[in-house]
Parts: sequence; C-alpha cells; structure tokens
Amino acid sequence: MATASEIAAVGVIGAGQMGSGIAQLAAAAGCAVLLLDADPTALSRAVASISASLRRLAAKGQFSQAACEDSIKRIRCVSTVQDLRDADLVIEAIVENEDVKKKLFVELDKITKPSTILASNTSSISITRLGSATKRPSQVIGMHFFNPPPIMKLIEIIRGADTSDEVFAAVKSFSERLGKTVICSQDYPGFIVNRILMPMINEAFWALYTGVGTKEDIDTGMKLGTNHPMGPLQLADFIGLDVCLSVLRVLHNGLGDNKYSPCPLLVQYVDAGRLGKKRGVGVYSYGQKSSSVKP
Ligand code: 3HC
Repeated sequence: MATASEIAAVGVIGAGQMGSGIAQLAAAAGCAVLLLDADPTALSRAVASISASLRRLAAKGQFSQAACEDSIKRIRCVSTVQDLRDADLVIEAIVENEDVKKKLFVELDKITKPSTILASNTSSISITRLGSATKRPSQVIGMHFFNPPPIMKLIEIIRGADTSDEVFAAVKSFSERLGKTVICSQDYPGFIVNRILMPMINEAFWALYTGVGTKEDIDTGMKLGTNHPMGPLQLADFIGLDVCLSVLRVLHNGLGDNKYSPCPLLVQYVDAGRLGKKRGVGVYSYGQKSSSVKP
C-alpha cells in the first residue's frame, strides 16, 4: 500500500462541485489526477472551472503561472472505471445513495490494484458498510471534504470498523499534503460535522416554518450573532436542500431520535424541486423563476 508521499496517481469520481474541487487540490499537490465522469459536459465544465480557479490563485501569487499550468496539465479526464486501475488512491464524490456507492466500490475493488486505497467523500453514509461491500475493508476510508473544497480548510477522515492504522496514517498525511487540517471521526451517522451542522440547519427551517422570524432575520441573526460566514438557510441552499434532507434522514434513522426528524418545510421544498443554489431556487431565489411554494 502507498504511503502519503507515494500517492502519485489519484482517481476522482464525479466531476460535480465536490469532485472538481478535490481534483484541483490533488493536481495542485503534484499528483496525476484521473477525473472520471460518464457525462462529457460535466467533465469539460469541471476542467474549465478548475483552470479558472487555479489561474485566479496564481494571479494572487499563491503559486507561479508555470506551476498553475503544470497542475492543469496533470488532470486527465476519463470516462470508465477501468481507467482508474493504476491509481494509488481513488476518491469518489458521486450521488449520496448507498446502493449506488456500494456498486461502485464493488467495481473499484475488482479493477484497481490490490494496494489502492478507496475513499468516499460521503456526507453521512456508513464507511463500514461501503468497506464490507469490498474484499479490502481495511483499505476503505471516508475523506469528507467541505464545499468549496479549495477554500475550506478541513478534511474529516472517517475510519470504518476495519480501516487499518496504515491506511488512516497514509490518508491523514495525504490530506495534510493537500494543505488541510484533519479531524478523525468514528463511523457513526453524520460523523462529527454534519451531526452538529444539520440539526442547526433543521432548526432554522423549524424557526421559519413556525414563523419565529423571516428567512432574512434568521440568517442575519446567525451571521452577525454567532459570526457564521453564511446564515443557516443560505448555507442550506449552498449545500443543496436535497443533501441536507438526506443527511437528516440518515441521522434520524441511524440515531433513532425524533430531534433529527426533518422539518416538513424542508421536505416540502425538496418535493417541489427547490433544491437550492444549484437549481436557482431554494429558500432564496437566485435569478430564476420561483415555484409556488411559499415559506
Ligand atoms: N472555489 C474556489 N474559490 C472560491 C469558491 C469556489 N467555489 N467560492 C469562493 N471562492 C473564493 C473566492 O475567490 C474568494 O477568494 P479571495 O478572498 O482570495 O478573493 C474567497 O473564496 C471568498 O469568496 P467571496 O468573496 O466570493 O465570498 P465569501 O467571502 O462570502 O466566501 C465562502 C464564500 C467561502 C463560500 C463563504 O461564504 C463560506 O465560508 N461559507 C460557508 C461555507 C461552508 O460552511 N461550507 C461547508 C458546507 S458543509 C459541507 O460542505 C459538508 C457536506 O457534507 C454537507
């Protein structure tokens, strides 16, 4: 198995916002990156946004123009899982669906070399269960990045029941090589950050639902009253209301406490397709037509 400094080739699966941010970080850290997505449009959008982001950072003096262009060249777009066979580390950032992720892990287990570490960027799905879908549970681990990955300073590492100390140490040092601070969570629903963040977001929806305050007052209250960069409702739109709902359901089912029960207003927004910033409408509207659901 590769140590952190030997992780030279990184496969990233999913060219959405999280996957492209992770690919950017790995390329900037000197790794050869294989960015996999079945959708060629998603891949070209990701490469354009990574290039723009790296060039912006170079313009600010974070690294030289040459280093920036070299990082961009280190990213190769691929379209099949087979293309990841030689990766030392694979990080998946696909849809938050346990069955879909398990299927992917089974496939990765078959095609990657025996030493490859398999990581999931899941927000809340059990790493132990993903690991047990493979024949290498000791090499399966959670690497939870935060949005936007190039900016946010944290990686939460989740150890499954069978994750080995060597794999944990390699992934921890690799995360530090990406310039991040690491925290370690045991494999319980929502891990550390979402266990605490999502009930706060849910409570903000309850406050809106029961008319305690307007959305603007709830967000301004938390921004200025507790020094958060975004209010909880704005943050929910930024994360995606569907993602928030899915994490809350994992907390509710996994911890069996009604305090995690999703607020009906959040459920209704998701049912209405108001998924947040990515859809142009969530709690707030982002320049597109709003649906008929009223807060
Ligand atoms: N990619 C790269 N850089 C970005 C970026 C992105 N997507 N978005 C913003 N930036 C950069 C900007 O270029 C700017 O850089 P500069 O200061 O050097 O010029 C800097 O970030 C600040 O951006 P802005 O001035 O445009 O806006 P803000 O000051 O409002 O910052 C923010 C934007 C960093 C997103 C800030 O609002 C913030 O920290 N919000 C909270 C984000 C957060 O909590 N994320 C975690 C969500 S939970 C999660 O992801 C877990 C999951 O499991 C649910």
